[in-house]
Order: sequence, then C-alpha cells, then structure tokens
Amino acid sequence: MVHILKIKQGDKASAIALAALARGECVAIPTETVYGLAADATNGLAVASIFEMKGRPRFNPLICHVDGIAMAQRFGVMNETAIALAGAFWPGPLTLVVDALPQNGISELATAGLPTIGLRCPDGLARELITQYGKPLAAPSANRSGRISPTRAPHVAEEFAGTGLLVLDGGECREGIESTIVKVTADKLELLRPGTITIEEIHNASGKSVSRPGGNLIIAPGMMASHYAPDSRLVTDVTRCPNHAALLAFGGGTDRDRTHAVAVRNLSASGDFREAAANLYAMLKELDHMRARLIAVEPVPHEGLGVAINDRLSRAAAPREET
Ligand code: TXA
Ligand code: MG
Repeated sequence: MVHILKIKQGDKASAIALAALARGECVAIPTETVYGLAADATNGLAVASIFEMKGRPRFNPLICHVDGIAMAQRFGVMNETAIALAGAFWPGPLTLVVDALPQNGISELATAGLPTIGLRCPDGLARELITQYGKPLAAPSANRSGRISPTRAPHVAEEFAGTGLLVLDGGECREGIESTIVKVTADKLELLRPGTITIEEIHNASGKSVSRPGGNLIIAPGMMASHYAPDSRLVTDVTRCPNHAALLAFGGGTDRDRTHAVAVRNLSASGDFREAAANLYAMLKELDHMRARLIAVEPVPHEGLGVAINDRLSRAAAPREET
C-alpha cells in the first residue's frame, strides 16, 4: 500500500506529513521540479531510510531543502555570490553547493561526509512544509536509484508500491526536470548539473563566469553516465524513426519520418523547451510502459534549456552499468 493524500495550500494533509517527518519517516513531497523523497535532514536514521528506500549508493549526497536564505545560513557558508544567486532564483529550481558550517547538525549521511552541502529552497507546498517543520528536509528525487524521476504522484506510488509510503499529491510538477546545481566557492562557479535555470542566467545574476567541469570526474553523482534510465533501450538524435520503435518527438516534424513508429509522444509540437522539459519524464514513462524494442528520440536543439533536456536524454541512453 502507498498512501496518496491530495494536498492544497493549508491542507490537513500537511499536518499528517509533519507528524510523519517528526517520527523520522520519509514522505514524498511535490516540488516545482520533480517529486522528492523527503526526511528530516538532521535525523540520521530518517536519512538512512531514504537511502534504503531508493537503493541509493551512500557516497551520493542529498540536497537539503530550506525555506529561504536565513535557514540556509544556519547550515552553509552563504557568501556574497551565493546570496546573489539565492536572491535571484529562490524559491526555485536552483541548488547551491557551498561549504558546510562545522557541526551544523545535518546528518553526515545526507552530505556523504563531504565538507560541502547542497542547499535548495523549493517553491510552493514543499517550502510551506519546511517552514512549518522548522528544519531542513533532505530529499532526492522520489524514484529508485538510477531510474526516471517522477513528476506526478502516481509515478511515485508506482516506484514504491507496497512500502506504506505517504505521498503528498500536488499535481504535475511545473518544471519537470531536476534543479540546476551550481558549486559556489570563494572565486568561481561550477555547473554540476544543468537544469531549467541556464548558465547564461547564472552568469547574469552573479556577474561571474561559470565553468563546466569536464572529464570523467564524478562531482555530483547525478552526473554518472547511466541515470534517469527507462527499461527500454533509448537512442537519441533520430530523424527517421526505425520500425517497431516508440518515438519521442520534438517539434512540428515536417522534415522527419515518423511513419514507422508504434507510438508517438511529442515533447512539444511547437518546439517550446519549457513545455518539453515539463513533459519529458512523464512521456518517457508512457513510452516505456509500451515495452517497445526501442525508444527513439528526435533531436532537441542544444541551446538554452535544450542543454538540460539533452543532458537527461544522453544519460537515459547511456550503456547501463551491470549492478
Ligand atoms: O530538483 C531537484 O534537485 C530534486 C528535488 C526533489 O529537489 N532533487 C534531486 O535530488 O534531483 P537528487 O538526489 O536526485 O540529485 C541531487 C544531486 C546528486 O547528483 C548529488 O550528487 C548532488 O545533487 N549533490 C548533493 N549535495 C552535493 C554536494 N555537497 N556536492 C556535490 N554534489 C552534491
Ligand atoms: Mg535523482
């Protein structure tokens, strides 16, 4: 059994969720990006149960969700640049990785023993819940490790069927892909994961240049090659859909051959990146459920928000590690 509670602003479902969090339980919560599997970030046992439920490697740290800059400052070093970025984009889909304050009370498991901490202030119900709870919530995406992130409450229920998990249903997630992650140090900014807030926007708000670490160094383990993976094999940059494939289209398609597809979903017929990001995971799941031999994905232009969409698609297409 998974319990799904519809939640509206000021709903009593949040009282039930707060009580569960205080008992050290996990609760799935809606955010503007994807659903999160949340627990009290200061409670080591509660954080351990997130890792257990997800089957997540322990070296992969969790984002700690706060309700604003003041709460962030209790746990991490918010320098001038971090405050400028938080001021520009919080509440919203931006995670700042900053130096952790010593003895800040956050479970070592949440930060995977790193000297840094990932902080994000989500919008809407999640933020309200954090304010009411008074402490940060550690929350990875509410999927089993390596799989597609959920953007609807029933997708969360599907991932954790039979666990008794409480899922707050806030409807469809507005952004649809995970937050942009930026590491802020004294002298530079590094993009650890692209998202709906682009490098250009980060640069404009901070006045600093943003580097993208290259090589195979795992800095945010969400950067591991195979991630966000459907069960079917996935290929990208397809302009002629092969026989027996399920097609994930993008745009009007006048120059595309879609005739052989066994099923078609279009991320955005008008070629709108925001709409495409919001549809990405739900459409991947729908096509995956059809058990086609292959999911073929049309090219998405590599500009603006297209960079984040292509990042997720290339990880979904990457060869799987045998585990
Ligand atoms: O939009 C989001 O960010 C969603 C919602 C629920 O907030 N959360 C999410 O969490 O995507 P998760 O655990 O799936 O991805 C968090 C990423 C991981 O790749 C992790 O390695 C990275 O953040 N991360 C967290 N703390 C870090 C740190 N101190 N240094 C480097 N990377 C960190
Ligand atoms: Mg995730």
